[in-house]
Amino acid sequence: MFTLRSSTFKWPLILLAAATLAVGCGDEDSDGDGGGESNSTSDGSAYYSGEMSRALGASGNEADCALCHSNDGSQDGWPGYTFKDIAFRSGFKGGDAPDLLAASNACITGWMGGTAITESDDAWTGLKMYMESISDSSVTDPNGLSPEVLADEAAYEAAYAGGDAATGEAAYNKACASCHDNAVVVGPTAAFPKSVLSAYSVGRIAQKVRTSGPPPSGMNDASDTTPGPMPFFEPADLSEDDLKNIIAHLKGA
Ligand code: HEC
Ligand code: HEC
Repeated sequence: MFTLRSSTFKWPLILLAAATLAVGCGDEDSDGDGGGESNSTSDGSAYYSGEMSRALGASGNEADCALCHSNDGSQDGWPGYTFKDIAFRSGFKGGDAPDLLAASNACITGWMGGTAITESDDAWTGLKMYMESISDSSVTDPNGLSPEVLADEAAYEAAYAGGDAATGEAAYNKACASCHDNAVVVGPTAAFPKSVLSAYSVGRIAQKVRTSGPPPSGMNDASDTTPGPMPFFEPADLSEDDLKNIIAHLKGA
């Protein structure tokens, strides 16, 4: 279960950022000409992508929600579920999080390394408004959660050997490059550069991609062999073939 600590030291920073942004935009809700602007406080999107979203995490965190969650329904190559139609579901995280706030806090504390926000925080008002604005209230079924957990590294090695390196480049660019080509800092840790990833075994790379992160993959569980703030990808986010080909591409096979 998730620990919901109340927010303290991070608030001055966020409020400062909010104040700066409010001065910059100077309007409340007259969004008509906002066109391509995606970092507005008036529609809450500033907490989905950009500086204010990143500030919900640990100091130095460079991951915003938009790094892992699309907002347009696309899922292929994205570790987190799309925010399109997310808001009115009846449960989250495979039953581990009872509501949208708890699920969001699991990401804020787990992946982004930040402090849980509360119902009355501006960040939550904004995030909730944004997620509701792109959600149909008739979509209430929870997303299924089915990470692929095999016995050990050897089992992943057997399952993920033999991919096609040439095909893997495009899949790598879609699923991995956003972090590994830019050394993005997720929570406390920078993503290793692509050139370093080839040193890991096929089995290790596959196991990492399938089981990295906080629960349910078990970052805080002593038996977890792939801890770390990198998010895991379920087969529904990244197919077996795509992952095989990505690994072949990384290994230069
Ligand atoms: C580093 C990647 C990453 C970041 C950053 C991230 N998330 Fe997530 N999020 C995930 C993954 C992966 C899952 C699905 C796996 C799981 O259930 O833990 C998830 C699941 C969720 C869910 C539950 C979805 C469902 O249907 O069960 C919500 C809600 C959510 N995230 C909100 C947020 C919000 C809000 C932010 C930004 C403040 C955020 N996330 C930032 C990776 C991330
Ligand atoms: C949201 C950012 C993000 C994405 C997307 C991402 N990674 Fe990572 N990755 C990280 C970070 C941060 C680390 C270092 C911290 C850790 O180990 O969790 C890491 C570490 C790794 C490692 C080192 C494993 C180990 O044993 O320490 C491998 C291998 C890896 N990533 C492969 C991949 C592959 C392959 C993909 C695409 C399918 C991918 N990553 C997508 C952020 C990301």
